[in-house]
Amino acid sequence: MAARKAATKTNRSTKPKGIASKATGKLGILTPGMGAVATTFIAGVMAINKGYASPIGSLTQMGRMRIGKRTKKNIPYMSDVVPLQDLKKVVFGGWDIFKDNMYEAAVHADVLDKELLSKLKAPLSKIKPMKAVFDKKYVKKLHGTHVKKAKTKMDLAKAVMADIRRFKKTNNCSRLVMVWCGSTEIYIEESAVHKTIEAFEKGLEKNSKLIAPSMIYAYAAIKMGIPYANGAPNLSCDIPALVELSKKTQAPIAGKDFKTGQTLMKTILAPGFKARALGIDGWFSTNILGNRDGEVLDDPDNFKTKEVSKLGVLEQILEPKLYPELYKDFYHKVRINYYPPRGDNKEGWDNIDIKGWLGYPMQIKVDFLCRDSILAAPIVLDLAIFLDLAKRSGMSGIQEWLSFYLKSPQAPEGRYPIHDIFKQLSKLENTLRYIGGHKLIDHLGLDYDE
Ligand SMILES: NC(=O)c1ccc[n+]([C@@H]2O[C@H](COP(=O)([O-])OP(=O)(O)OC[C@H]3O[C@@H](n4cnc5c(N)ncnc54)[C@H](O)[C@@H]3O)[C@@H](O)[C@H]2O)c1
Repeated sequence: MAARKAATKTNRSTKPKGIASKATGKLGILTPGMGAVATTFIAGVMAINKGYASPIGSLTQMGRMRIGKRTKKNIPYMSDVVPLQDLKKVVFGGWDIFKDNMYEAAVHADVLDKELLSKLKAPLSKIKPMKAVFDKKYVKKLHGTHVKKAKTKMDLAKAVMADIRRFKKTNNCSRLVMVWCGSTEIYIEESAVHKTIEAFEKGLEKNSKLIAPSMIYAYAAIKMGIPYANGAPNLSCDIPALVELSKKTQAPIAGKDFKTGQTLMKTILAPGFKARALGIDGWFSTNILGNRDGEVLDDPDNFKTKEVSKLGVLEQILEPKLYPELYKDFYHKVRINYYPPRGDNKEGWDNIDIKGWLGYPMQIKVDFLCRDSILAAPIVLDLAIFLDLAKRSGMSGIQEWLSFYLKSPQAPEGRYPIHDIFKQLSKLENTLRYIGGHKLIDHLGLDYDE
Protein backbone atom coordinates (compact mmCIF):
# COMPACT_ATOMS: atom_id res chain seq x y z
CA MET A 1 0.00 0.00 0.00
CA ALA A 2 2.88 2.36 0.83
CA ALA A 3 4.44 1.72 -2.59
CA ARG A 4 1.09 2.38 -4.17
CA LYS A 5 0.76 5.72 -2.40
CA ALA A 6 4.26 6.74 -3.54
CA ALA A 7 3.45 5.77 -7.13
CA THR A 8 0.28 7.85 -6.98
CA LYS A 9 2.22 10.87 -5.77
CA THR A 10 4.90 10.82 -8.50
CA ASN A 11 2.38 10.20 -11.25
CA ARG A 12 0.13 13.05 -10.21
CA SER A 13 2.78 15.68 -10.80
CA THR A 14 3.57 14.48 -14.34
CA LYS A 15 0.09 13.45 -15.44
CA PRO A 16 -1.05 14.78 -18.82
CA LYS A 17 -4.56 16.12 -19.22
CA GLY A 18 -6.97 13.39 -20.20
CA ILE A 19 -10.53 13.62 -21.46
CA ALA A 20 -12.38 12.36 -18.35
CA SER A 21 -13.85 14.67 -15.76
CA LYS A 22 -13.02 13.93 -12.11
CA ALA A 23 -14.92 11.24 -10.22
CA THR A 24 -16.44 13.46 -7.57
CA GLY A 25 -19.25 12.48 -5.20
CA LYS A 26 -20.91 9.11 -4.76
CA LEU A 27 -21.45 6.49 -7.47
CA GLY A 28 -24.55 4.29 -7.14
CA ILE A 29 -24.28 0.81 -8.64
CA LEU A 30 -27.69 -0.70 -9.37
CA THR A 31 -28.14 -4.37 -10.15
CA PRO A 32 -31.35 -5.86 -11.47
CA GLY A 33 -30.94 -9.32 -9.92
CA MET A 34 -29.47 -9.58 -6.44
CA GLY A 35 -28.48 -13.25 -6.23
CA ALA A 36 -25.13 -15.01 -5.97
CA VAL A 37 -23.08 -12.72 -8.23
CA ALA A 38 -24.55 -9.43 -6.98
CA THR A 39 -24.24 -10.33 -3.28
CA THR A 40 -20.68 -11.62 -3.73
CA PHE A 41 -19.85 -8.35 -5.46
CA ILE A 42 -21.52 -6.09 -2.88
CA ALA A 43 -20.27 -7.97 0.20
CA GLY A 44 -16.84 -8.17 -1.47
CA VAL A 45 -16.59 -4.40 -1.92
CA MET A 46 -17.65 -3.91 1.70
CA ALA A 47 -15.03 -6.42 2.88
CA ILE A 48 -12.34 -4.70 0.79
CA ASN A 49 -13.29 -1.27 2.12
CA LYS A 50 -13.02 -2.57 5.68
CA GLY A 51 -9.60 -4.07 4.94
CA TYR A 52 -10.73 -7.70 5.46
CA ALA A 53 -9.69 -8.86 1.99
CA SER A 54 -8.04 -7.86 -1.32
CA PRO A 55 -9.79 -7.05 -4.61
CA ILE A 56 -8.12 -9.92 -6.46
CA GLY A 57 -9.32 -10.23 -10.06
CA SER A 58 -10.13 -6.55 -10.46
CA LEU A 59 -8.04 -4.47 -12.86
CA THR A 60 -9.55 -1.20 -11.66
CA GLN A 61 -8.21 -1.96 -8.17
CA MET A 62 -5.00 -3.91 -8.86
CA GLY A 63 -4.12 -3.65 -12.57
CA ARG A 64 -1.02 -1.85 -13.83
CA MET A 65 -0.08 -0.89 -17.39
CA ARG A 66 2.85 0.61 -19.22
CA ILE A 67 2.87 4.28 -20.13
CA GLY A 68 5.47 5.57 -22.61
CA LYS A 69 8.62 3.86 -23.85
CA ARG A 70 9.98 0.71 -22.23
CA THR A 71 13.16 2.58 -21.30
CA LYS A 72 11.09 4.77 -18.96
CA LYS A 73 9.95 1.77 -16.89
CA ASN A 74 6.73 3.61 -16.04
CA ILE A 75 4.11 0.99 -15.13
CA PRO A 76 1.57 2.78 -12.92
CA TYR A 77 -1.73 1.48 -11.59
CA MET A 78 -4.57 1.91 -14.06
CA SER A 79 -6.26 4.01 -11.41
CA ASP A 80 -3.37 6.47 -11.74
CA VAL A 81 -3.65 6.59 -15.53
CA VAL A 82 -7.33 7.59 -15.50
CA PRO A 83 -9.55 9.09 -12.75
CA LEU A 84 -11.57 6.17 -11.35
CA GLN A 85 -14.28 6.22 -8.72
CA ASP A 86 -13.04 5.72 -5.18
CA LEU A 87 -14.39 2.40 -3.90
CA LYS A 88 -15.17 3.99 -0.54
CA LYS A 89 -17.67 6.27 -2.25
CA VAL A 90 -19.76 3.57 -3.91
CA VAL A 91 -23.31 2.68 -2.81
CA PHE A 92 -25.46 -0.25 -3.90
CA GLY A 93 -29.06 -0.91 -4.80
CA GLY A 94 -31.14 -3.07 -7.09
CA TRP A 95 -34.19 -5.17 -7.77
CA ASP A 96 -35.07 -8.81 -7.18
CA ILE A 97 -38.13 -11.03 -7.30
CA PHE A 98 -37.31 -12.19 -3.75
CA LYS A 99 -37.59 -9.85 -0.78
CA ASP A 100 -34.41 -11.05 0.98
CA ASN A 101 -32.04 -8.31 2.05
CA MET A 102 -28.42 -8.59 0.90
CA TYR A 103 -27.32 -10.41 4.06
CA GLU A 104 -30.06 -13.03 3.71
CA ALA A 105 -29.48 -13.36 -0.04
CA ALA A 106 -25.71 -13.77 0.47
CA VAL A 107 -26.29 -16.47 3.11
CA HIS A 108 -28.67 -18.22 0.71
CA ALA A 109 -26.17 -17.99 -2.17
CA ASP A 110 -23.62 -19.74 0.08
CA VAL A 111 -20.58 -18.34 -1.72
CA LEU A 112 -18.82 -16.38 1.02
CA ASP A 113 -17.89 -17.69 4.46
CA LYS A 114 -20.51 -17.25 7.19
CA GLU A 115 -17.83 -15.66 9.36
CA LEU A 116 -17.08 -12.92 6.83
CA LEU A 117 -20.79 -12.35 6.20
CA SER A 118 -21.56 -12.01 9.90
CA LYS A 119 -18.98 -9.20 10.13
CA LEU A 120 -20.85 -7.42 7.32
CA LYS A 121 -24.35 -8.25 8.54
CA ALA A 122 -25.34 -4.68 9.50
CA PRO A 123 -24.50 -2.88 6.21
CA LEU A 124 -25.67 -5.82 4.08
CA SER A 125 -29.03 -6.06 5.86
CA LYS A 126 -29.72 -2.41 5.09
CA ILE A 127 -29.77 -3.09 1.34
CA LYS A 128 -33.19 -4.33 0.33
CA PRO A 129 -34.20 -5.09 -3.24
CA MET A 130 -36.84 -2.98 -4.95
CA LYS A 131 -39.79 -4.77 -6.54
CA ALA A 132 -38.74 -6.43 -9.80
CA VAL A 133 -40.01 -6.26 -13.34
CA PHE A 134 -40.52 -9.97 -13.87
CA ASP A 135 -42.51 -12.41 -15.94
CA LYS A 136 -42.22 -16.13 -15.43
CA LYS A 137 -42.49 -16.72 -19.17
CA TYR A 138 -38.88 -15.55 -19.51
CA VAL A 139 -37.38 -17.48 -16.57
CA LYS A 140 -39.45 -20.61 -16.18
CA LYS A 141 -37.84 -22.10 -13.09
CA LEU A 142 -38.30 -19.09 -10.80
CA HIS A 143 -41.40 -18.16 -8.80
CA GLY A 144 -41.10 -14.74 -7.22
CA THR A 145 -43.62 -12.57 -5.46
CA HIS A 146 -41.71 -9.32 -5.02
CA VAL A 147 -42.82 -8.11 -8.43
CA LYS A 148 -44.21 -4.87 -9.90
CA LYS A 149 -47.67 -4.82 -11.45
CA ALA A 150 -48.65 -2.46 -14.27
CA LYS A 151 -50.84 -2.38 -17.35
CA THR A 152 -48.10 -2.01 -19.93
CA LYS A 153 -44.39 -2.66 -20.24
CA MET A 154 -43.95 1.08 -20.78
CA ASP A 155 -45.57 1.66 -17.35
CA LEU A 156 -43.09 -0.84 -15.88
CA ALA A 157 -40.17 1.02 -17.48
CA LYS A 158 -41.47 4.27 -16.01
CA ALA A 159 -41.74 2.61 -12.59
CA VAL A 160 -38.09 1.53 -12.84
CA MET A 161 -37.12 5.10 -13.77
CA ALA A 162 -39.00 6.37 -10.70
CA ASP A 163 -37.09 3.82 -8.54
CA ILE A 164 -33.82 5.07 -10.01
CA ARG A 165 -34.64 8.73 -9.29
CA ARG A 166 -35.67 7.86 -5.73
CA PHE A 167 -32.52 5.82 -5.14
CA LYS A 168 -30.29 8.61 -6.45
CA LYS A 169 -31.93 11.19 -4.22
CA THR A 170 -32.07 9.07 -1.06
CA ASN A 171 -28.44 8.04 -1.39
CA ASN A 172 -27.23 11.44 -2.53
CA CYS A 173 -25.46 9.99 -5.58
CA SER A 174 -23.69 12.09 -8.19
CA ARG A 175 -23.85 9.39 -10.83
CA LEU A 176 -25.30 5.92 -11.40
CA VAL A 177 -24.43 2.75 -13.32
CA MET A 178 -26.63 -0.31 -13.89
CA VAL A 179 -25.28 -3.87 -14.30
CA TRP A 180 -27.72 -6.70 -15.10
CA CYS A 181 -27.03 -9.54 -12.63
CA GLY A 182 -30.43 -11.17 -13.09
CA SER A 183 -31.12 -14.69 -14.33
CA THR A 184 -30.63 -15.78 -17.91
CA GLU A 185 -33.87 -15.32 -19.82
CA ILE A 186 -35.24 -17.56 -22.57
CA TYR A 187 -33.77 -17.28 -26.05
CA ILE A 188 -35.21 -14.43 -28.11
CA GLU A 189 -34.09 -13.51 -31.61
CA GLU A 190 -33.73 -9.94 -32.75
CA SER A 191 -36.96 -8.93 -34.52
CA ALA A 192 -38.70 -5.91 -36.04
CA VAL A 193 -39.75 -4.57 -32.62
CA HIS A 194 -36.07 -4.32 -31.63
CA LYS A 195 -34.93 -2.45 -34.73
CA THR A 196 -35.70 1.20 -33.97
CA ILE A 197 -36.44 3.31 -30.90
CA GLU A 198 -39.94 4.04 -32.25
CA ALA A 199 -40.75 0.35 -32.84
CA PHE A 200 -39.38 -0.56 -29.40
CA GLU A 201 -41.37 2.13 -27.57
CA LYS A 202 -44.49 1.06 -29.42
CA GLY A 203 -43.73 -2.53 -28.37
CA LEU A 204 -43.50 -1.39 -24.74
CA GLU A 205 -46.92 0.25 -25.02
CA LYS A 206 -48.41 -2.82 -26.71
CA ASN A 207 -46.81 -5.37 -24.34
CA SER A 208 -44.82 -7.09 -27.08
CA LYS A 209 -43.85 -10.64 -26.07
CA LEU A 210 -40.47 -10.02 -27.65
CA ILE A 211 -39.57 -7.44 -25.01
CA ALA A 212 -38.13 -9.29 -22.03
CA PRO A 213 -37.79 -7.79 -18.51
CA SER A 214 -34.02 -7.29 -18.96
CA MET A 215 -34.80 -5.00 -21.93
CA ILE A 216 -37.19 -2.97 -19.79
CA TYR A 217 -34.48 -2.27 -17.19
CA ALA A 218 -31.97 -1.52 -19.97
CA TYR A 219 -34.41 0.87 -21.61
CA ALA A 220 -35.07 2.68 -18.31
CA ALA A 221 -31.36 3.16 -17.59
CA ILE A 222 -30.35 4.12 -21.13
CA LYS A 223 -33.30 6.50 -21.54
CA MET A 224 -31.98 8.34 -18.46
CA GLY A 225 -28.42 8.40 -19.88
CA ILE A 226 -27.22 5.91 -17.26
CA PRO A 227 -24.47 3.47 -18.33
CA TYR A 228 -25.72 -0.12 -18.61
CA ALA A 229 -23.89 -3.45 -18.73
CA ASN A 230 -25.45 -6.84 -19.33
CA GLY A 231 -23.89 -9.74 -17.42
CA ALA A 232 -26.17 -12.44 -18.84
CA PRO A 233 -26.42 -13.85 -22.36
CA ASN A 234 -29.97 -12.61 -23.06
CA LEU A 235 -30.21 -9.80 -25.62
CA SER A 236 -31.09 -6.98 -23.20
CA CYS A 237 -29.25 -3.93 -24.61
CA ASP A 238 -27.89 -5.86 -27.63
CA ILE A 239 -30.58 -4.64 -30.02
CA PRO A 240 -30.36 -1.78 -32.55
CA ALA A 241 -33.10 0.24 -30.80
CA LEU A 242 -31.22 0.41 -27.51
CA VAL A 243 -27.84 0.96 -29.20
CA GLU A 244 -29.38 3.91 -31.06
CA LEU A 245 -30.94 5.21 -27.84
CA SER A 246 -27.61 4.90 -25.98
CA LYS A 247 -25.95 7.19 -28.51
CA LYS A 248 -28.77 9.69 -28.27
CA THR A 249 -28.77 9.84 -24.48
CA GLN A 250 -24.96 9.59 -24.11
CA ALA A 251 -25.13 6.31 -22.24
CA PRO A 252 -22.14 3.95 -22.57
CA ILE A 253 -23.27 0.31 -22.81
CA ALA A 254 -21.59 -3.12 -22.73
CA GLY A 255 -22.70 -6.74 -23.03
CA LYS A 256 -23.18 -9.67 -23.01
CA ASP A 257 -22.49 -12.38 -20.42
CA PHE A 258 -19.65 -12.15 -17.88
CA LYS A 259 -16.59 -14.04 -19.10
CA THR A 260 -15.74 -16.17 -16.08
CA GLY A 261 -14.88 -19.92 -15.89
CA GLN A 262 -14.74 -22.13 -18.92
CA THR A 263 -15.05 -19.42 -21.56
CA LEU A 264 -12.31 -17.41 -19.88
CA MET A 265 -10.06 -20.47 -20.25
CA LYS A 266 -11.12 -20.86 -23.89
CA THR A 267 -10.22 -17.30 -24.78
CA ILE A 268 -6.84 -17.74 -23.06
CA LEU A 269 -5.99 -21.13 -24.61
CA ALA A 270 -7.43 -20.94 -28.14
CA PRO A 271 -5.46 -17.81 -29.19
CA GLY A 272 -2.30 -19.60 -28.01
CA PHE A 273 -2.96 -22.72 -30.13
CA LYS A 274 -3.79 -20.58 -33.13
CA ALA A 275 -0.70 -18.39 -32.62
CA ARG A 276 1.44 -21.56 -32.90
CA ALA A 277 -0.53 -22.87 -35.93
CA LEU A 278 -1.71 -25.94 -33.99
CA GLY A 279 -4.87 -27.54 -35.34
CA ILE A 280 -8.00 -28.44 -33.39
CA ASP A 281 -10.33 -31.32 -34.28
CA GLY A 282 -12.69 -30.95 -31.35
CA TRP A 283 -13.36 -29.17 -28.10
CA PHE A 284 -15.80 -30.77 -25.69
CA SER A 285 -16.81 -28.72 -22.66
CA THR A 286 -19.04 -29.82 -19.86
CA ASN A 287 -19.94 -28.21 -16.54
CA ILE A 288 -21.57 -29.26 -13.30
CA LEU A 289 -22.96 -26.59 -11.04
CA GLY A 290 -25.61 -26.44 -8.37
CA ASN A 291 -26.49 -22.81 -7.75
CA ARG A 292 -29.73 -21.04 -8.71
CA ASP A 293 -28.15 -20.04 -12.03
CA GLY A 294 -27.56 -23.75 -12.72
CA GLU A 295 -31.20 -24.48 -11.89
CA VAL A 296 -32.41 -21.75 -14.28
CA LEU A 297 -30.12 -23.05 -17.02
CA ASP A 298 -31.53 -26.55 -16.55
CA ASP A 299 -34.51 -25.41 -18.61
CA PRO A 300 -33.80 -25.95 -22.34
CA ASP A 301 -35.13 -22.51 -23.40
CA ASN A 302 -32.88 -20.71 -20.91
CA PHE A 303 -29.91 -22.99 -21.70
CA LYS A 304 -30.27 -22.19 -25.41
CA THR A 305 -29.48 -18.51 -24.65
CA LYS A 306 -26.33 -19.54 -22.76
CA GLU A 307 -25.31 -22.09 -25.39
CA VAL A 308 -25.41 -19.54 -28.20
CA SER A 309 -23.27 -17.19 -26.10
CA LYS A 310 -20.71 -19.89 -25.31
CA LEU A 311 -20.47 -21.39 -28.81
CA GLY A 312 -19.54 -18.22 -30.71
CA VAL A 313 -16.18 -17.85 -28.98
CA LEU A 314 -14.08 -20.51 -30.75
CA GLU A 315 -15.52 -19.90 -34.20
CA GLN A 316 -14.41 -16.27 -34.10
CA ILE A 317 -10.98 -16.90 -32.56
CA LEU A 318 -10.06 -19.82 -34.85
CA GLU A 319 -11.52 -18.42 -38.10
CA PRO A 320 -11.88 -21.86 -39.79
CA LYS A 321 -12.68 -20.27 -43.16
CA LEU A 322 -9.26 -18.62 -43.21
CA TYR A 323 -7.46 -21.68 -41.76
CA PRO A 324 -9.28 -24.71 -43.22
CA GLU A 325 -6.36 -27.10 -42.75
CA LEU A 326 -6.25 -26.37 -39.04
CA TYR A 327 -9.87 -25.82 -38.03
CA LYS A 328 -12.29 -26.87 -40.75
CA ASP A 329 -15.07 -28.99 -39.25
CA PHE A 330 -13.73 -28.74 -35.69
CA TYR A 331 -16.39 -30.07 -33.35
CA HIS A 332 -17.47 -27.82 -30.49
CA LYS A 333 -19.88 -28.99 -27.83
CA VAL A 334 -20.92 -27.25 -24.61
CA ARG A 335 -22.98 -28.83 -21.84
CA ILE A 336 -24.21 -27.48 -18.51
CA ASN A 337 -25.52 -29.95 -15.96
CA TYR A 338 -27.43 -28.89 -12.86
CA TYR A 339 -25.91 -30.80 -9.96
CA PRO A 340 -27.05 -29.38 -6.58
CA PRO A 341 -24.28 -30.80 -4.31
CA ARG A 342 -21.71 -28.53 -5.99
CA GLY A 343 -23.51 -25.25 -5.23
CA ASP A 344 -21.63 -22.25 -6.62
CA ASN A 345 -18.38 -24.24 -6.87
CA LYS A 346 -18.66 -25.21 -10.47
CA GLU A 347 -16.47 -27.77 -12.18
CA GLY A 348 -15.73 -27.20 -15.84
CA TRP A 349 -14.10 -29.99 -17.84
CA ASP A 350 -12.61 -29.51 -21.26
CA ASN A 351 -11.29 -32.16 -23.58
CA ILE A 352 -9.38 -30.62 -26.46
CA ASP A 353 -8.30 -32.76 -29.41
CA ILE A 354 -5.46 -30.89 -31.06
CA LYS A 355 -3.11 -31.83 -33.89
CA GLY A 356 0.51 -30.94 -34.57
CA TRP A 357 3.29 -31.46 -37.12
CA LEU A 358 2.17 -33.76 -39.98
CA GLY A 359 -1.28 -33.99 -38.43
CA TYR A 360 -0.29 -36.11 -35.38
CA PRO A 361 -3.06 -35.97 -32.75
CA MET A 362 -2.65 -34.91 -29.11
CA GLN A 363 -5.06 -34.26 -26.27
CA ILE A 364 -5.32 -31.62 -23.58
CA LYS A 365 -7.59 -31.97 -20.55
CA VAL A 366 -8.54 -29.00 -18.43
CA ASP A 367 -10.40 -29.47 -15.18
CA PHE A 368 -11.21 -26.08 -13.73
CA LEU A 369 -12.58 -26.33 -10.20
CA CYS A 370 -13.73 -22.77 -10.11
CA ARG A 371 -16.04 -20.60 -8.07
CA ASP A 372 -18.56 -18.98 -10.33
CA SER A 373 -19.44 -15.86 -8.37
CA ILE A 374 -15.88 -15.33 -7.10
CA LEU A 375 -14.83 -15.00 -10.75
CA ALA A 376 -17.82 -12.84 -11.70
CA ALA A 377 -17.77 -10.32 -8.80
CA PRO A 378 -14.63 -8.38 -9.90
CA ILE A 379 -16.08 -8.21 -13.42
CA VAL A 380 -19.21 -6.49 -12.09
CA LEU A 381 -17.00 -4.03 -10.26
CA ASP A 382 -14.72 -3.28 -13.22
CA LEU A 383 -17.60 -2.92 -15.67
CA ALA A 384 -19.32 -0.47 -13.34
CA ILE A 385 -16.17 1.57 -12.63
CA PHE A 386 -15.03 1.65 -16.27
CA LEU A 387 -18.51 2.46 -17.61
CA ASP A 388 -18.66 5.38 -15.20
CA LEU A 389 -15.26 6.49 -16.53
CA ALA A 390 -16.58 6.22 -20.10
CA LYS A 391 -19.56 8.38 -19.17
CA ARG A 392 -17.30 11.03 -17.62
CA SER A 393 -15.17 10.90 -20.80
CA GLY A 394 -18.14 11.73 -23.04
CA MET A 395 -18.20 8.25 -24.61
CA SER A 396 -21.52 6.66 -25.56
CA GLY A 397 -22.94 3.58 -27.28
CA ILE A 398 -21.18 0.19 -27.29
CA GLN A 399 -17.91 0.21 -25.35
CA GLU A 400 -16.00 -2.47 -27.25
CA TRP A 401 -12.91 -1.95 -25.09
CA LEU A 402 -14.85 -3.69 -22.31
CA SER A 403 -15.20 -6.89 -24.41
CA PHE A 404 -12.36 -8.14 -22.19
CA TYR A 405 -14.96 -8.93 -19.53
CA LEU A 406 -17.62 -10.48 -21.76
CA LYS A 407 -18.28 -13.89 -23.19
CA SER A 408 -20.29 -12.69 -26.16
CA PRO A 409 -19.13 -9.12 -26.74
CA GLN A 410 -21.49 -6.68 -28.36
CA ALA A 411 -20.01 -5.17 -31.52
CA PRO A 412 -21.26 -2.35 -33.75
CA GLU A 413 -23.37 -3.41 -36.73
CA GLY A 414 -21.32 -4.91 -39.56
CA ARG A 415 -18.32 -5.70 -37.34
CA TYR A 416 -17.41 -9.05 -35.84
CA PRO A 417 -16.72 -9.25 -32.09
CA ILE A 418 -13.19 -9.80 -30.80
CA HIS A 419 -12.90 -12.76 -28.41
CA ASP A 420 -9.13 -13.18 -28.07
CA ILE A 421 -8.39 -12.02 -24.51
CA PHE A 422 -4.95 -10.65 -25.42
CA LYS A 423 -6.33 -8.46 -28.22
CA GLN A 424 -9.10 -7.40 -25.85
CA LEU A 425 -6.56 -6.39 -23.20
CA SER A 426 -4.55 -4.33 -25.73
CA LYS A 427 -7.70 -2.49 -26.70
CA LEU A 428 -8.64 -1.89 -23.07
CA GLU A 429 -5.18 -0.55 -22.22
CA ASN A 430 -4.97 1.68 -25.27
CA THR A 431 -8.42 3.08 -24.52
CA LEU A 432 -7.23 3.95 -21.02
CA ARG A 433 -4.13 5.61 -22.50
CA TYR A 434 -6.38 7.61 -24.81
CA ILE A 435 -8.72 8.65 -21.97
CA GLY A 436 -5.72 9.51 -19.78
CA GLY A 437 -4.15 11.64 -22.53
CA HIS A 438 -1.15 9.34 -23.10
CA LYS A 439 0.44 8.14 -26.34
CA LEU A 440 -0.99 4.83 -27.58
CA ILE A 441 1.40 1.86 -27.72
CA ASP A 442 1.55 -0.04 -31.03
CA HIS A 443 4.34 -2.48 -29.97
CA LEU A 444 6.24 -1.72 -33.19
CA GLY A 445 9.41 -0.68 -31.41
CA LEU A 446 11.26 0.04 -34.66
CA ASP A 447 13.87 2.15 -32.89
CA TYR A 448 14.26 -0.48 -30.16
CA ASP A 449 12.96 2.12 -27.75
CA GLU A 450 9.21 1.51 -27.71
N1 LIG B 1 -21.39 -16.50 -11.97
C1 LIG B 1 -20.84 -16.53 -13.14
O1 LIG B 1 -19.72 -16.97 -13.29
C2 LIG B 1 -21.59 -15.98 -14.31
C3 LIG B 1 -20.92 -15.89 -15.53
C4 LIG B 1 -21.56 -15.37 -16.63
C5 LIG B 1 -22.87 -14.95 -16.51
N2 LIG B 1 -23.53 -15.08 -15.34
C6 LIG B 1 -24.91 -14.66 -15.32
O2 LIG B 1 -25.12 -13.75 -14.29
C7 LIG B 1 -26.48 -13.83 -13.87
C8 LIG B 1 -26.53 -13.92 -12.36
O3 LIG B 1 -25.93 -15.13 -11.92
P1 LIG B 1 -26.11 -15.61 -10.42
O4 LIG B 1 -25.20 -16.77 -10.24
O5 LIG B 1 -26.04 -14.45 -9.51
O6 LIG B 1 -27.60 -16.16 -10.46
P2 LIG B 1 -28.65 -16.15 -9.25
O7 LIG B 1 -29.75 -17.05 -9.67
O8 LIG B 1 -27.99 -16.44 -7.94
O9 LIG B 1 -29.13 -14.65 -9.19
C9 LIG B 1 -29.94 -14.08 -10.15
C10 LIG B 1 -30.99 -13.28 -9.43
O10 LIG B 1 -31.76 -12.57 -10.39
C11 LIG B 1 -33.10 -12.54 -9.91
N3 LIG B 1 -33.95 -12.20 -11.05
C12 LIG B 1 -34.31 -12.97 -12.09
N4 LIG B 1 -35.06 -12.26 -12.95
C13 LIG B 1 -35.14 -11.01 -12.44
C14 LIG B 1 -35.77 -9.82 -12.87
N5 LIG B 1 -36.46 -9.79 -14.00
N6 LIG B 1 -35.64 -8.70 -12.12
C15 LIG B 1 -34.92 -8.73 -10.95
N7 LIG B 1 -34.33 -9.85 -10.50
C16 LIG B 1 -34.42 -10.95 -11.24
C17 LIG B 1 -33.32 -13.90 -9.30
O11 LIG B 1 -34.37 -13.88 -8.40
C18 LIG B 1 -31.97 -14.14 -8.62
O12 LIG B 1 -31.97 -13.71 -7.28
C19 LIG B 1 -27.08 -15.06 -14.57
O13 LIG B 1 -27.80 -14.65 -15.70
C20 LIG B 1 -25.85 -15.81 -15.01
O14 LIG B 1 -26.08 -16.62 -16.15
C21 LIG B 1 -22.91 -15.58 -14.22
